[in-house]
Amino acid sequence: MAAAGPSCLLALVFLAVLLPGGAPLLQASQTWTLLKVQQLLGRPPALRHWRRTTDFCGGGGTVAPSASVVCYGDTVTQLHVAGGAQGAPPLPLNFSLGALVTTLSRLPDLKVLTLSGLGLWGPLPGKLERLAGLEIVNMSRNYLYGPIPRGLSRLQGLQTLILDDNMIGGEVPGWVGTALPALAVLSLRNNSLAGAVPESLGKAPSLRSLVLASNNLSGNLPDMRGLANLQVLDVGGNSLGPAFPRLGRKVASVVLSRNKFTGGLPAAELSSFYLLEHLDVSLNRFVGPFPPALLSLPSLQYLSIAGNRFTGALSDKVPCGDNLRLVDLSSNLLMGSVPACLRPGGKPVAVVLSSENCLDRGDGSQHPSPFCQNQALAVGIVPRHNEKKKVSRHAGFIAGIVMAVVVAVSLVGAMAFFAIKKMTMEGAKTRPAATLMEDHTSTSSAYPSKLFADARLHITDSEARSFGDPAI
Ligand SMILES: *[C@@H]1O[C@H](CO)[C@@H](O)[C@H](O)[C@H]1NC(C)=O
Ligand SMILES: *[C@@H]1O[C@H](CO)[C@@H](O)[C@H](O)[C@H]1NC(C)=O
Ligand SMILES: *[C@@H]1O[C@H](CO)[C@@H](O)[C@H](O)[C@H]1NC(C)=O
Ligand SMILES: *[C@@H]1O[C@H](CO)[C@@H](O)[C@H](O)[C@H]1NC(C)=O
Repeated sequence: MAAAGPSCLLALVFLAVLLPGGAPLLQASQTWTLLKVQQLLGRPPALRHWRRTTDFCGGGGTVAPSASVVCYGDTVTQLHVAGGAQGAPPLPLNFSLGALVTTLSRLPDLKVLTLSGLGLWGPLPGKLERLAGLEIVNMSRNYLYGPIPRGLSRLQGLQTLILDDNMIGGEVPGWVGTALPALAVLSLRNNSLAGAVPESLGKAPSLRSLVLASNNLSGNLPDMRGLANLQVLDVGGNSLGPAFPRLGRKVASVVLSRNKFTGGLPAAELSSFYLLEHLDVSLNRFVGPFPPALLSLPSLQYLSIAGNRFTGALSDKVPCGDNLRLVDLSSNLLMGSVPACLRPGGKPVAVVLSSENCLDRGDGSQHPSPFCQNQALAVGIVPRHNEKKKVSRHAGFIAGIVMAVVVAVSLVGAMAFFAIKKMTMEGAKTRPAATLMEDHTSTSSAYPSKLFADARLHITDSEARSFGDPAI
């Protein structure tokens, strides 16, 4: 037995010497396909080393970390090509996303595809469905626009779809939650999606991570209590709300910042989120008492409630969880004192931001407490009987003033509106050629006008026109 180890090793070394190169060679047709992809992508720096003689399956196609080819036997299963972190300018006018997808469909075993920051432009083509084996797709930081095509719903093995930093529009399609049984990661950060998040996403059986941040989504989020695996929800920077979303108990990271959420936090529900590590509800319109129990959630590391109108008095004795690292309470209507466990020297060592409240910190960072009391009253959070009486005595007088102001403001507003409308209509009349031009470019061989909306694009209108039809 003792001799078995070394002799096995010897045999392996022997084999390795006998088999030149180790890995089998890639099928010739797939080598051709990869070289075609290189050409369609405009020979980006990441692929500069690809040649007809490259041993793609033997690691020759890999230029870590910006490009890699992974094979199983003699067939490509993974293709990763990434441009620089800034992304590339749009590929030339003769680029065709459709042609690229058609070419990729000649890699029948392709499961993982990264094409990020390469300047791809155009609407996502429905024929993506031809890449039937795809499981993981990352086409971030390009210039993809138009809606998410229905064809994607036929990728039955799709687990991860990342299309961050593009210009994808339309709505999040309803089929996303139901047609893709394996979908675990959906990331559409920083696009132009609008409308409501579909109810069906609350039924996506495998969803682990849902990132829809920095879009133009509105309305309430679907009920996601049924998503047993959901760990990450990031919807920051939309117009979502008003209701705090219903979530399963396994969530680890919840980002709702910069939206239109209002009302109170569901304290009882939140206190059952024992895996919650990161909670950011900053810059919304939340009101009502801040539930101090949040601070003692066992896994919580990051908590931001900044920029809302949370009220209530904190006290020395509020306990903190062991894992807290950063707590941001700033710009609320909190009173009382910062809990001892959050003060310097308190345990655990956490960064605590608390300016612009009415806490008794005595360092000039706070409002005087009447400010918080009055603000709380103003948003109708603390209806006190004696205050109400005082208000009602002056109510008639105040209502009169308010009415007068409202009427005056709306009169001025209406006048301004009509003035501006008139101006823009006149402007439009004097610029019909430019409008026509833009419409024309979207159907001609020039860049579609959609691309001009993007600030990253430094092609000026006149430059673009010179690409276009000289007849115009
Ligand atoms: C686009 O045109 C350039 C220059 O004529 C050429 O080198 C390139 O191969 C073309 N790209 C495609 C995808 O046809
Ligand atoms: C997707 O691509 C972007 C850009 O290259 C990269 O930053 C990101 O980490 C990738 N995401 C995943 C999950 O691989
Ligand atoms: C969002 O995407 C746009 C292009 O669609 C890009 O210019 C911008 O840098 C992205 N923003 C961030 C924060 O990455
Ligand atoms: C966001 O959607 C609203 C309508 O819901 C629209 O008026 C607004 O122009 C959109 N904003 C952007 C940046 O697309």
